[in-house]
Amino acid sequence: MKKTPPAATRPVRAQVAHPATIRAFQRRLIAWYQRHGRDLPWRHTRDPYSILVSEIMLQQTQVQRAMLYYEKFLQRYPTVEDLARADEPAVRETWEGLGYYARARNLHRTSRKIVDEYDGRFPKEPEQLATLPGIGPYTAGAVASFAFRRDAAILDTNAARVLTRFFALSPEQQTLRFLWSVAHQVTPVGKAYIFNQAIMDIGATICVARTPRCAVCPLRPVCRSVEKGG
Ligand code: ADE
Repeated sequence: MKKTPPAATRPVRAQVAHPATIRAFQRRLIAWYQRHGRDLPWRHTRDPYSILVSEIMLQQTQVQRAMLYYEKFLQRYPTVEDLARADEPAVRETWEGLGYYARARNLHRTSRKIVDEYDGRFPKEPEQLATLPGIGPYTAGAVASFAFRRDAAILDTNAARVLTRFFALSPEQQTLRFLWSVAHQVTPVGKAYIFNQAIMDIGATICVARTPRCAVCPLRPVCRSVEKGG
């Protein structure tokens, strides 16, 4: 029979909150998103290539601006094969105006890898996606959950702010490592797609950086920062 190891050697898996609090967070966020979520073009597709294009643009570009370029880019390169076949100056020209050109170069390189090494089919798991050029853990989680409905967590600036406030994380807890562990704990099984879109939207429209709109926040009754004026 297995013996329980002494406390000091047990792996620490700090629970960020009581399971009932986590469930309330998930339920309220999803219910709010179903009524108030933004209607954005990349939410109408499950094509991993289109979703990747949107996520790469959104890494450093505001939603309104990214929308224009998203349509334009996909008109010019509708599939991953079209992008892989394109030459670099043409891709650069299509990206012009968006800035941070390294993003386009990495997207182009990724398209060629998908075609040459993956037979044109995107890998579905976040760990595999994260090996491709320009795809970090956030973008990998976004593509896996949005295109393939994997139970993948995401953590971008908006999500990090929402989690930090909702769970009133201390400064020591605000490390990427801890925040990712919180993101994994709170992502609901089978509902990562909607949960991830929802946490981004609430971060972008209500739990905004400077002056959060707590008065209209669906999380208010269960949020740990609200009484402190956050
Ligand atoms: N920012 C990054 N990904 C996004 C998405 N899918 N919807 C809205 N904003 C985003």
